[in-house]
Amino acid sequence: MPYMDAVLHEIQRVGNVAPMNLLHETTGDTSFRGYRIPKGTLVIPLLSSVLSDKTQWETPHQFNPNHFLDAQGKFVKRDAFMPFSAGRRVCLGETLAKMELFLFFTMLLQKFHFRPPQEVSPEQLDLTPTPGITSGPQPFQLCALSHCETL
Ligand code: HEM
Repeated sequence: MPYMDAVLHEIQRVGNVAPMNLLHETTGDTSFRGYRIPKGTLVIPLLSSVLSDKTQWETPHQFNPNHFLDAQGKFVKRDAFMPFSAGRRVCLGETLAKMELFLFFTMLLQKFHFRPPQEVSPEQLDLTPTPGITSGPQPFQLCALSHCETL
């Protein structure tokens, strides 16, 4: 279970589905890293920057569930994991989304083995995200084999 949890967190870190978060606006004059930001300025807090910050992640551009595991294989929380944003306007559905991801993925993986079609090697899979307010995968084909079939 800790490994599954780590894999799901890493999928969300690398998946980075809301790279530009939502637009925010300063409610008062603000000073940030030496810059003065007047009240009423539109701010786009890029979640991509923190989810692939090289000071926070050992291998920021590689899929690596070990980002969320300690040496004993126990799950570790990371402060830089914020796909749901942070602060007062953090995603209201965070708890529900996390629970659903865990339940859906564990149930699917218990029943199916997922792999690309025979003629496609894992190296050929295109992981370039589609651009937009939210980023998703390119169209792809996936085979779901029931565990009974793969035995
Ligand atoms: C993996 C799934 C999800 C991700 C990655 C995600 C991510 C986000 C992000 C980045 C924001 C912007 C936060 C900000 O403005 O700083 C947000 C806002 C929000 N999300 Fe989600 N979300 C997810 C699922 C859900 C679900 C399942 C619900 C509801 C059932 C939900 C409801 C909301 C609402 C209501 C807001 C606006 C909160 C506000 O402005 O105060 N989200 N979400």
